Amino acid sequence: MTQLSPGSGRVRVGVLVSGRGSNLAALIQAAQHPDYPAEIVLVAANAPGAGGLEIARSAGIGAVAIDHRPFKGDREAHEQAIDAALRAAGVELVALAGYMRIFTPWFVQAWRDRMINIHPSLLPHFPGVDTHARALAAGHDRHGCTVHWVTEGVDAGPVIGQADVPVLDGDTVETLAARVLTAEHRLYPQCVALAARSLRSQRRMDGAGSLPNLRRTPDP
Ligand code: GRF
Repeated sequence: MTQLSPGSGRVRVGVLVSGRGSNLAALIQAAQHPDYPAEIVLVAANAPGAGGLEIARSAGIGAVAIDHRPFKGDREAHEQAIDAALRAAGVELVALAGYMRIFTPWFVQAWRDRMINIHPSLLPHFPGVDTHARALAAGHDRHGCTVHWVTEGVDAGPVIGQADVPVLDGDTVETLAARVLTAEHRLYPQCVALAARSLRSQRRMDGAGSLPNLRRTPDP
């Protein structure tokens, strides 16, 4: 039997989605490469109709809907259910991909330095929603996307990577969003790989079986 040395295995990633899942699809595609340092082991959605669930199932990845509505405003109880699913799947790194709920401090702490998000703006510009409309209204000539560690501030955690695109004359929210989304699909797999490699080297330092908090990856 082959014995894996500490840190040689692929990092187990859980992806949380609320909607269509195009970033999830980009991650699944990247993870098919044998040299990719991460594997997607679970996709969870707070919305039972999320398109991302079907994308996961089609790829043979475990997919679970954990509807927030029955929890009737008890956000932490909903998050405990998500946390339990992630831990049961052996998830080491959580990637938010269009997950449209804000976490309580409890969940953020539970996954501190192990949870990343992709946001459709060049942070610190335009945290929150309606980023493309706000970039157009502000007259910016560059816009883009950011992958960052999740902290308690909304879209405020340390940046792992960014990709920018031009804002062109005549752009609408839709044309700009489509250009940014294409950049997201390149950026997110790169940043998940960076985070996974960082986790793996942390494993090597600490020995198999132990996964302490990941040291934050500096900007590439
Ligand atoms: C993306 O624009 C992402 O940056 C944001 O939500 C959107 C999700 O799109 N957080 P998709 O579900 O990955 O297609």
